Amino acid sequence: MKRIAIYPGSFDPITNGHLDILRRSATLFDLVYIAVAVNLRKDVLFTPEERLELIRSCTTDIPNVKIEKFSGLTVDFARRVGAIAIVRGLRAISDFEYEFQMALMNKHLNPQIDTIFLMSHQKYSYLSSSLIKELARLGADISKFVPESVKVKLEEKIREVKK
Ligand code: COA
Repeated sequence: MKRIAIYPGSFDPITNGHLDILRRSATLFDLVYIAVAVNLRKDVLFTPEERLELIRSCTTDIPNVKIEKFSGLTVDFARRVGAIAIVRGLRAISDFEYEFQMALMNKHLNPQIDTIFLMSHQKYSYLSSSLIKELARLGADISKFVPESVKVKLEEKIREVKK
């Protein structure tokens, strides 16, 4: 039986920190779905299709990854694709409380699905998509933090929004 996991998030946009977690989870599971949440409580810069496309552009070398968008509950998406685990990255202690609460609620909603935490690599532990967007808006070099395809698209998007 295939061991399937999902890696959910907003990915607005995907960063090298997310890719690090994804690559490591792809060695632990037979198949990992990147699950792009579409009905979020937060404002996003990229449309769901754009976020999916950006993820596609930088994951072509990982054979056991699938990319899908979802709305509704994460556990329902996990169940639909036959996943046994939800993968989340932990960057710092400050992530813990929110992640702990979500993991317990998801466990309550579906006791058959576990949340697996991977510690972020220390060089990405201070990254967030919002911070990357702010740096890009202010003209800083973001090439160490996102793949080239994301950098190009983000800079293009910011020029569009500024017009
Ligand atoms: N590297 C870089 N950044 C990282 C990271 C990593 N390893 N791990 C997290 N982040 C950042 C993200 O970039 C994001 O930054 P931003 O807030 O500046 O955009 C932030 O941490 C958190 O983002 P993310 O991991 O995408 O989580 P989220 O809070 O946006 O979304 C969902 C989390 C989608 C999994 C959650 O909201 C959910 O499950 N929603 C569906 C509805 C549901 O089931 N609700 C009940 C949950 S119990």
